Amino acid sequence: QLNQTDMINLVLFGKPGAGKGTQAGFLKEKYNLKHISTGDVFRYNIKNGTELGNLAKSYIDKGDLVPDEVTIDMLKAEVEKNPDAAGFIFDGFPRTAAQAEALDNFLESKDMKVNATIALEAEDDILVERLLERGKSSGRSDDQDESKIRNRFDEYNEKTAPLKAYYEKQGKFHSVNGIGEINEITKRLGKVIDSL
Ligand code: AP5
Repeated sequence: QLNQTDMINLVLFGKPGAGKGTQAGFLKEKYNLKHISTGDVFRYNIKNGTELGNLAKSYIDKGDLVPDEVTIDMLKAEVEKNPDAAGFIFDGFPRTAAQAEALDNFLESKDMKVNATIALEAEDDILVERLLERGKSSGRSDDQDESKIRNRFDEYNEKTAPLKAYYEKQGKFHSVNGIGEINEITKRLGKVIDSL
């Protein structure tokens, strides 16, 4: 079991469509980290018709957040499944104050911690365009129309954006311009990670 001095645990932060999943895909290879996307875990469960999937579906279809207790338990289980990971990229978690506190307490109980939270920044109109485009091929229920996408932004602004202050207080918040070539953005993220 690794301890916190050997590990890097990153939170990728940003609005829907900011590029968290895309960038996590590159960063996990470069830094040998386990990528946990709570959205992906929910979609996997929905596809397989599990109890968790059935519960999450009604929230996700509308672009609302899934309740904290369910999401926190799921995240813990995903971490527990990977006892040998050299570190984690948390993508789409935490999204509320309760989730952020639960993550800190859970990691601390395992002698681990969040090393950095990195936000990908981009304007709403660009994000709407990206998501509507993706919705055409992905079939994601929450990318299908602009009103659902805007509802996801409202959820973000109300419940998730305040976490910036939470991580700033801990001296862990970084932000990166999320607009441009995908590989350029990976380099911007790499600079932050290499400086840790
Ligand atoms: P989740 O799956 O986390 O979705 P999201 O936050 O809405 O984020 P996306 O996956 O839409 O965007 P992303 O930032 O990963 O961008 P991506 O790389 O895909 O959550 C879905 C739902 O699950 C939530 O609404 C909620 O209901 C529930 N949920 C999940 N976690 C939860 C939690 N912790 N608590 C409660 N509920 C939770 O890129 C987007 C698109 O843009 C792609 O097509 C990509 O190819 C393209 N793109 C990426 N980068 C660029 C670039 N630089 N230039 C041009 N295009 C780009």
